Amino acid sequence: MNERELLEWYLAAGVDAICGDMPGCLLPEKPAAAVAENDVRQRPAITDLAQMSLKACKNARDICEAATTLEELRAAVETFDGCSLKLTSNKTVFGGGNPAARIMIVGEAPGADEDRIGEPFVGRSGHLLDKMLAAIGLNRESVYITNVLPWRPPGNRTPTDAEVAVCLPFLRRQIELIKPEFLLILGGSAANSLLDNEEPISRLRGKWLEYKTLKGDAIALLASFHPAYLLRNPAQKAKVWSDLLRLSQKMHNN
Ligand code: URA
Repeated sequence: MNERELLEWYLAAGVDAICGDMPGCLLPEKPAAAVAENDVRQRPAITDLAQMSLKACKNARDICEAATTLEELRAAVETFDGCSLKLTSNKTVFGGGNPAARIMIVGEAPGADEDRIGEPFVGRSGHLLDKMLAAIGLNRESVYITNVLPWRPPGNRTPTDAEVAVCLPFLRRQIELIKPEFLLILGGSAANSLLDNEEPISRLRGKWLEYKTLKGDAIALLASFHPAYLLRNPAQKAKVWSDLLRLSQKMHNN
């Protein structure tokens, strides 16, 4: 295995944190004389990895600046290879619905069904989302739906900070191109990514907040619980119902 293959293997395995300048080894140390010149433990693989990650973020930002339409951005995301999640997923899930919608809904990341089909929110969470939207007179044709990440994290694990950092420029550009009047953010992970904070969703939900685009435009943002959380905790549905009413009222008043 050469250096590049080793780094790619690390990325594919989800390694993204710098723990030191040298990779650690849990095996007993070999006597110094027995350490071959090309022993991988002598290489600064983790530092290189962090640099690759920074480069990928910069690359994503440059690509986004160059994309002037939604279709250009979709093509750019589909050919982007700076996020290791792409290696473990089947489909790129870019976004779907009505690009001229007043409301844009943002979830965390595709799940198994979305990864199979290539569309956002088509599994159990998506069915509940459809019911939530119907409750305030909305449907897939009246909203645009996307996720912070266009690729499914293996086993639906929470995305790492590095994965979010590299994919966030694509979401930010998508918001700029859709120009929604309202953002409905589903779940704490997506809310924290877009608002760049660590507040728990229990404190963020149900109140109007503001999202600032890179150009400085302000968009009204409402966060609420994720449908997947509601499937596990149906008692929380009443809170989401009140959040949806708040959204509906503002849509009608504006
Ligand atoms: N959960 C999400 O956050 N997004 C999807 O597209 C599906 C499930």
